[in-house]
Amino acid sequence: MNEILDTQSGAVRFLSFNRVAKMNALTRGMYAGLSQALNEAAGDFSVRAVVITSEGDHFTAGNDIIDFMDNPPTADSSDVAIFLASLLNFPKPLIAAVKGNAVGVGTTMLLHCDVVVASPTANFSMPFASLGLVPEAGSTFLFPALVGYQRAAKIFMTGETFDATQALEMGLVAEINNDALGGATKIAEKISEQPPQAIINTKALLKARNHDSVAAVMRAEFEIFSLALQSDEAMEAFIKFMAKKGSS
Ligand code: COA
Repeated sequence: MNEILDTQSGAVRFLSFNRVAKMNALTRGMYAGLSQALNEAAGDFSVRAVVITSEGDHFTAGNDIIDFMDNPPTADSSDVAIFLASLLNFPKPLIAAVKGNAVGVGTTMLLHCDVVVASPTANFSMPFASLGLVPEAGSTFLFPALVGYQRAAKIFMTGETFDATQALEMGLVAEINNDALGGATKIAEKISEQPPQAIINTKALLKARNHDSVAAVMRAEFEIFSLALQSDEAMEAFIKFMAKKGSS
């Protein structure tokens, strides 16, 4: 079964997480599929916008914890690192449609999207520290820049979740819509009707100010993240997750 559904309608490419039984937790294979699809979409003139969405009731429960334990990403060449670089450098509009849980990278990837539409069911969290890890995807730069240091520190350090209304107020999402995918599709179609080079240039200008800083922070985060993955704190958190699984 394809765990990243890749379809196109008109000028809009849709990439959908499709691992519903595991709450769309992202595996190495899914990151590789996403990177490949983004790279293809970047070079395909028929694609003017990409919508990232999900099957089932949830966006994603973040990185697959068992995959983390079995194959800890340690280098720039890991699938997750390549995916994050593809996301950072994607030149065309990226629209996300989020419903249900968006955990970990499920929230941090949104900081790279141009427009996020959330369903009222959306629930965001970045419990990296709770797992003995550190925030990734440039989020230690992008999130405080968006919401202010204090609120970012509170969310990162407590691991608390926040809902769609809070995310709208923070500016992490642009719109709440009962039909998040429908809303995201409409925005993507509207953007696709605009002059394409003007859109690419607009995005490049919007992102230019932070690009190099985000790339540097991403690398620094990844180095600490890779070490933290091997730590006793992370092991304890992962074993706790596995134990909960076993007891349910
Ligand atoms: N990695 C691997 N499997 C995961 C997963 C993850 N990140 N998140 C959920 N799953 C699996 C569960 O193990 C379960 O599989 P099972 O039915 O084979 O036991 C299935 O997806 C459904 O999840 P479940 O935990 O039963 O759903 P829930 O509604 O009780 O809880 C969450 C939802 C999101 C609170 C809970 O799944 C969770 O805490 N997941 C881990 C989130 C996380 O820490 N992500 C990493 C961030 S870096």
